Amino acid sequence: MVIREMTIDDYEEVYAMWQTTSKRALSKADEKSQMERYLEHNKGMSQVAVIDGKIVGTVLAGHDGRRGFIHHMAVLPDYRRKRIGHSLAEKAIEMIKSQGIDKTHIFCYQNNETGQSFWRDFGFAKREDVFVYSLGNDEI
Ligand SMILES: CC(C)(COP(=O)(O)OP(=O)(O)OC[C@H]1O[C@@H](n2cnc3c(N)ncnc32)[C@H](O)[C@@H]1OP(=O)(O)O)[C@@H](O)C(=O)NCCC(=O)NCCS
Repeated sequence: MVIREMTIDDYEEVYAMWQTTSKRALSKADEKSQMERYLEHNKGMSQVAVIDGKIVGTVLAGHDGRRGFIHHMAVLPDYRRKRIGHSLAEKAIEMIKSQGIDKTHIFCYQNNETGQSFWRDFGFAKREDVFVYSLGNDEI
């Protein structure tokens, strides 16, 4: 397995993968032009896991100059529980830290038990003292 930078050339394969892994979390922000802007804005930070030329995992990593944020942490079902998610998350955090950002947030649906278990196992602490407020539509 290789973990490498995600580029816009990966978009079609990655988006097809997200249809399987992350459908509920997809939004207009995941359209190609927006993703191109995101990758440009957070150069070299987002990662894909590749096995035999096939993308089997993704993580979007970026920061706003103050805090890091991770989105679309995903691994194809047939490749799960092999620590691929961990490898991707480790690389994402490493990239965020390399930008001088020492704190990273993730969003997870309340009924996503797998996601919660994964982030807990990785060492993220669930916040009980913070609500997420959003302005705009219902998309995440
Ligand atoms: C969450 C996800 C990325 C995990 O990927 P993965 O490669 O299987 O994760 P890892 O192999 O690195 O898992 C490490 C640990 O996370 C926890 N974990 C992962 N999947 C789990 C599951 N289905 N149930 C319970 N714990 C789980 C376990 O502690 C696991 O360690 P273990 O296998 O020794 O028990 C993958 O399940 C996925 O793509 N899910 C759909 C998308 C999603 O929900 N993403 C998270 C958004 S917040």
